[in-house]
Amino acid sequence: MVYRSVIVGCGAYLPQKVVTNAELAARVETTDDWIVERTGIRSRHIAADGETTGDLATHAALDALRHAGVDPSEVDLVIVATATPDNTFPATAAKVQARLGCPGGPAFDVQAVCSGFVYALAVADNFIKAGQVRTAVVIGAETFSRILDWSDRTTCVLFGDGAGAVVLRREDGAGTNADRGILSTHLHSDGRQHDLLYVDGGPSSTQTVGHLRMTGKEVFRHAVVNLAQVVEEAIVANGLTPADIDWLVPHQANKRIIDGTARKLQMSTDRVVVTVERHANTSAASIPLALNEAVKDGRIRPGQLVLLEAMGGGFTWGSALVRM
Ligand code: UT7
Repeated sequence: MVYRSVIVGCGAYLPQKVVTNAELAARVETTDDWIVERTGIRSRHIAADGETTGDLATHAALDALRHAGVDPSEVDLVIVATATPDNTFPATAAKVQARLGCPGGPAFDVQAVCSGFVYALAVADNFIKAGQVRTAVVIGAETFSRILDWSDRTTCVLFGDGAGAVVLRREDGAGTNADRGILSTHLHSDGRQHDLLYVDGGPSSTQTVGHLRMTGKEVFRHAVVNLAQVVEEAIVANGLTPADIDWLVPHQANKRIIDGTARKLQMSTDRVVVTVERHANTSAASIPLALNEAVKDGRIRPGQLVLLEAMGGGFTWGSALVRM
């Protein structure tokens, strides 16, 4: 039997607290003007004390299940994409699975930093295509505020906390480009670029959580090249042209990177979902947060073709082409 996976619901959760650029300018030597001009970011959500990635993930998953009209007991796979898990182990996904009330099936975390959601979506899609599960919840959830060096202006202004989720359902048949479903996923990594974006701690190296370190300019340069390559790869693999894509839902790291990718695709800005100004970079959560927003406000409609793309630490990068 041949199967495909269909996105049947989206959800999101953002912590209540909003921190503006002006508030950060009171802590480090920066300005609202610099942050807006270089990144497009105006504010970000920050988790409350004691509010964990698992909390954010559970809220987003429940929202997605409600939107899908799927009872949590039907979920047989839970994947959380995160680089900021609640604990070193067990997986945050196991905690979320227990809270959703769907024990028994596989639940695990996927760690590909900002590309984590695309990686997790690809893994869930392959579980479904292999016939191993019927209903999956794929969540991107992060509390990057916990791994930021709040005295480093080159990184602390760039990130935020949040979670987004989708529900995938198995449908019979491979389908065509015209049918609803995940049409393709393409994943890449290049571990030689480790030092350009990493956390300087971890259980096996320093026995501390550590702080995010980034050589921003170099990451920017690689992001533009890798994202152009991976969107082209997705379009060619499906025998399509950029004009066939209804929406680009990119990872939200920097408005200038998003604009560069859209320009390469010759997509006008009104076909690109942008949330970076209000969410900042939420790593693995950024794509499902943006997708949720555009689905719920009616911009993205059933049957439309949506291209997801991301690039992050590792380096990792990837894309998913989805008929909604
Ligand atoms: O999600 C994972 C992938 N991550 C990314 O894609 C991030 C990619 N990188 C970027 O988005 C950009 O490189 C940044 C936004 C991080 C930086 O923008 P940039 O245009 O590359 O600036 P820069 O790093 O070259 O810094 C320019 C200047 C420097 O001063 P000097 O050396 O020219 O005197 C920085 O020290 O801006 C200074 N600067 C700041 N000034 C005010 C750096 N951070 C700040 C700040 N406020 N927050």
